[in-house]
Amino acid sequence: MHLFDVYPLFDLSLIKGNGAYVYDDKGHEYLDFYGGHAVISVGHNHPKYTQALQEQLEQLAYYSNSVHLPLQAQLATKLGEVSGYTDYQLFLCNSGAEANENAIKLASFHTGKKKIIAFQGAFHGRTHGAVVATDSKKIKAPINNDEHVIFLPFNDIEALENTLRMENDICAVIIEPIQGVQGIYEATPAFLSAIQRLCKQHHVIFIADEIQCGYGRTGKFFAHQWANVQPDIITIAKGMGNGFPVAGALIHPDIHPSHGLLGTTFGGAPLACRAALSVLEIIENENLIANALHMGDYLKQRFTTIEGIREIRGKGLMLGIEFNVPIKEMRHNLVKVHKIFTGNANQSHTLRLLPPLNITKNHVDTLMDKIISSL
Ligand SMILES: Cc1ncc(COP(=O)(O)O)c(C=O)c1O
Repeated sequence: MHLFDVYPLFDLSLIKGNGAYVYDDKGHEYLDFYGGHAVISVGHNHPKYTQALQEQLEQLAYYSNSVHLPLQAQLATKLGEVSGYTDYQLFLCNSGAEANENAIKLASFHTGKKKIIAFQGAFHGRTHGAVVATDSKKIKAPINNDEHVIFLPFNDIEALENTLRMENDICAVIIEPIQGVQGIYEATPAFLSAIQRLCKQHHVIFIADEIQCGYGRTGKFFAHQWANVQPDIITIAKGMGNGFPVAGALIHPDIHPSHGLLGTTFGGAPLACRAALSVLEIIENENLIANALHMGDYLKQRFTTIEGIREIRGKGLMLGIEFNVPIKEMRHNLVKVHKIFTGNANQSHTLRLLPPLNITKNHVDTLMDKIISSL
């Protein structure tokens, strides 16, 4: 059997990871400034994380959501503490798309309404509910063309106000506080505040998709916390498990659960919870949120000294560096010649940086030397 060939791949095979580095089958070392799409939060094969998973495998890897699994409650408590959302409820699942899918369903259950507002440039995942809210024709099948979604311009308060005034069947507004796949575009604090205010006014659920921008990456636990807003539902995945598939939704206390409302076979299994708990412990013990902010500032400062850059966007370790020329060739060069992984975006001139949160100044200096020689 062959693999279903849907991914454009670099011609190399990775077999090992350690901290900010990964290694191919020929023994080459690569510096990872992409973290496999923002997934590697605490570094590849962090010893504490590896140990926690090994211990858990020897205890209990899996049981379904038909019994109490104490690690779920431990994870909810810890996540509440670290994120500041102690009074919210946690629903656990397996991937970002699934988290958004459940958030949208929950908004519809809760309000009894059936349309959603999403924004131009948004990426929320590839399952039906998530992909209809994603602004990309290419990844929508005919069955995903859903008239239940209204796309509005990003950061346009007036358009949102007008739409919510005219449409009375909206159950949710879903937004990435920083758009990732599109090329690192930040929602303004004024826009996020307006979403919160208008959602309350119109009995609409405010969903923040923090799947890429959350989990400490921007220098606060959640990117929306820079704007001092409190969404009704916050979706998480990627950095949550440092590579172990685990995701979730943080849900406002006013949204009430009932048995059977949501569900999943694998979500919240002990091994996944242990991975997620270990990530939170490492983030806390090693002050990784502060490091993300600090290293992000240092990166920005270094990039401002380089010619040929049009704009530097983002916060902490979620950065989009827009060059005057398309970055495809440079990114290829960085991998092939200089052995550094970086990311691209829909915006063809933007290099997307999403490294592990524990990178150091030395890693940044190495990246900058190689980028300068690539240019
Ligand atoms: C903001 C955002 N939401 C949702 C998703 C979908 O996550 P997953 O690929 O885990 O389904 C992604 C993935 O890139 C994302 O960046």
